[in-house]
Amino acid sequence: MPAGRYDPPAMTTHARATPPHTAIVGLQWGDEGKGKIVDLLTSEHDVIVRYNGGANAGHTVQVGDQRYALHLIPSGILYPDKACVIGNGVVVDPEKVLQEFETLRARGVHIGGNLKISDRAHVVMPYHKEQDAALEEYLSAKTSGDRGNLSIGTTRRGIGPTYADKVRRSTAIRMGDLLDPAYLRSRLEVVCKLRTAELEALGVQTAPLDPAALAERYAGYGERLRPHIQDTVYALHDAMRAGKRLLFEGANASLLDIDHGTFPYVTSSNCSTLGIPAGTGVPGHAIGRVLGIMKAYSTRVGAGPFPTELDNELGHRIRERGREYGTTTGRPRRCGWLDLVAVRYSAMVCGATGIACTLFDVLSGLDEVKLCVRYRLPDGTETDRFLPDAHRLESVTPVYETLPGWSEDLRDAGDRATLPANARRYLERIEQVVGVPIEVVSLGPERTQTLVDGRRAAALAHA
Ligand code: GDP
Ligand code: IMO
Ligand code: MG
Repeated sequence: MPAGRYDPPAMTTHARATPPHTAIVGLQWGDEGKGKIVDLLTSEHDVIVRYNGGANAGHTVQVGDQRYALHLIPSGILYPDKACVIGNGVVVDPEKVLQEFETLRARGVHIGGNLKISDRAHVVMPYHKEQDAALEEYLSAKTSGDRGNLSIGTTRRGIGPTYADKVRRSTAIRMGDLLDPAYLRSRLEVVCKLRTAELEALGVQTAPLDPAALAERYAGYGERLRPHIQDTVYALHDAMRAGKRLLFEGANASLLDIDHGTFPYVTSSNCSTLGIPAGTGVPGHAIGRVLGIMKAYSTRVGAGPFPTELDNELGHRIRERGREYGTTTGRPRRCGWLDLVAVRYSAMVCGATGIACTLFDVLSGLDEVKLCVRYRLPDGTETDRFLPDAHRLESVTPVYETLPGWSEDLRDAGDRATLPANARRYLERIEQVVGVPIEVVSLGPERTQTLVDGRRAAALAHA
């Protein structure tokens, strides 16, 4: 190019000219059934994109009697003709990705050029997982008293320490670095010294980390992942210019968002839709549809405030009926009534244009059901605003509306209009309070156990 001349990039069409792209995002504390809904919408999209989190996520897709649990790979991988992208905002544990490759391939799932991983995604190293566990142990052993235990109850997948290194910059390793063994080794020389000292400070007796061995191992993973590692920002923009539709698959959930969740009992990324632009390089205005996923009740895994928690026989019953045990860690999930103050806040922050109400079948058989519509504050006043600060949220008491329950099994319902009147009333009240329409009602883990725009979803063709 002659000096002084500037050739603009070939941006002839703008993202806004393409069909709207869709975001799927959890409106509670995770495990809302995002995997199922992503699977449901995949056929209408071309590229499925993860923008945040890492192997802390566990997304279940059930196809007939086949159950798939996906952690790092987008749920769209089950369709061989769709492209999948792990964006720059994700923290990638290469060992876990390769394990997931093996498990999926053993079940006949194709993984090749259909999966791209951002060269700018940060790498979860073994010392991040050790640090995560060591900090949790340290905090649960050393902190007690009025404010209780300060540990978060993380998944111990190294998520927090990896994002901390990203923000610290000088100690971070990115996927692209795994492709340059000499550079990787030089970075690890410094990082390993520092990390050994930090682990010792947390009381971990560890042999000094060996940078040469670690560099060799991770460069090996890099070599195996080389065909997938690339600049995904250009790949996504190229796809949009070619008229492809993107589906963003949120991991974790809005109330676990590092900025907008129940801090400090959150994860370390922007899991709300606000994380999409930063985590993929796609501007927010390109997304036309935001489907917020919400269970018909609430659950939470790990520590942190949960105003509507049912730490009793009813909570136990919901846990058993909903099979509320973690997809990633197997931990029993805490269960409680639906908190609409929280859901309305998440829908606002995420810009939800519609809601998918999942696990609705689980509520059948209760004499009455409750919806939390306001909080009572310690001074006796009431508010319909969420309080994302954990300490403040711990002090509220839920104010409930009680509705009559229904006894019918909803799993085979064919139409929203023919659901039992009390079940319909429950859905309508949610729409009134949140102010967003329920577009999808999920009545079981399977694809076909779903009402889309009021009608039973047809069985989808699969790989
Ligand atoms: P995700 O992390 O949001 O993808 O959700 P998980 O997969 O961790 O947890 C949701 C669980 O509920 C999975 O076991 C799903 O198979 C299951 N599931 C999803 N939708 C429904 C539903 O409508 N009814 C029932 N009974 N189970 C569902
Ligand atoms: P999906 O995508 C439920 C929770 C953990 C812990 C906190 C921080 O399956 O909905 P971390 O390991 O991220 O540092 O843990 O966040 N958490 C989740 N809970 N579902 C998830 O993902 C979660 N991802 C993180 O239990 O309380
Ligand atoms: Mg999950």
